[in-house]
Amino acid sequence: MRGVKILILKDAEAVAKKSASLIVERINKNPKLVLGLATGETMLPLYEELRRAYKRGEVNFSEVKTFNLDEYFGINSDDKNSYRSYMDKELFNKVNLRKKNINFLDGDVKEYKKVCIDYEKKIKSVGGIDLQILGIGRNGHIAFNEPGSSFKSRTRKVRLSERTRRDNSKYFFSLRRVPKFALSMGIGTIMESKEIVLLASGKRKANAIHKSIDGKITNRIPASVLRKHKKATFILDRAAASDFNKI
Ligand code: GLP
Repeated sequence: MRGVKILILKDAEAVAKKSASLIVERINKNPKLVLGLATGETMLPLYEELRRAYKRGEVNFSEVKTFNLDEYFGINSDDKNSYRSYMDKELFNKVNLRKKNINFLDGDVKEYKKVCIDYEKKIKSVGGIDLQILGIGRNGHIAFNEPGSSFKSRTRKVRLSERTRRDNSKYFFSLRRVPKFALSMGIGTIMESKEIVLLASGKRKANAIHKSIDGKITNRIPASVLRKHKKATFILDRAAASDFNKI
């Protein structure tokens, strides 16, 4: 069966709790889970819930492998604005994930093409991603696959749209300092994950969610491709789901 399963919950906290319990459940079923992770504001309460679950002894990450979706290009992983620093702070340094099991795109190397090819190979070598967590950009992007990205795209260097740079500028001192490029898993790469869960909360995501679900499946709205996946779920709060069926 194809088509996205949609869960609509009260608020961002409920979205985080539900997605954290889904991740915990998958890890308890398969301690060697290959988990795809995302960054952004939406994920902060999710990581808080995962840290809590770990503290309560409900989950063991010691054999879990992770792959993050994307990283800014031209930023060192130690930089406080790197996605790697975000993940270290929010999850990696707080649970018992092993360093060797954490996979990340290094956005600060000249041989970025090799970095991207090796990332794809690494994902294949561990048998693919079992569960990929996604957020969504206001323009419908997933990871850093901006509108117009091919559904067949693989991990590569991408140019960020002005809107995405503006949305992400809150973390930098000024828009000028927001990187213009990033390394990102492709849509083709993401679609090969065995299961995909997209989280969205807040009114500012309502239009992107509406277009992804109610509109045409088109690469102008990258998240709409998820309707072609065998096992994709959108976990939304009421505000993010508030524009459904408005076409
Ligand atoms: C960035 C990330 C995406 C994320 C999106 C939404 O652009 N590359 O993976 O889904 O932001 O972020 P937020 O949750 O902060 O709205």
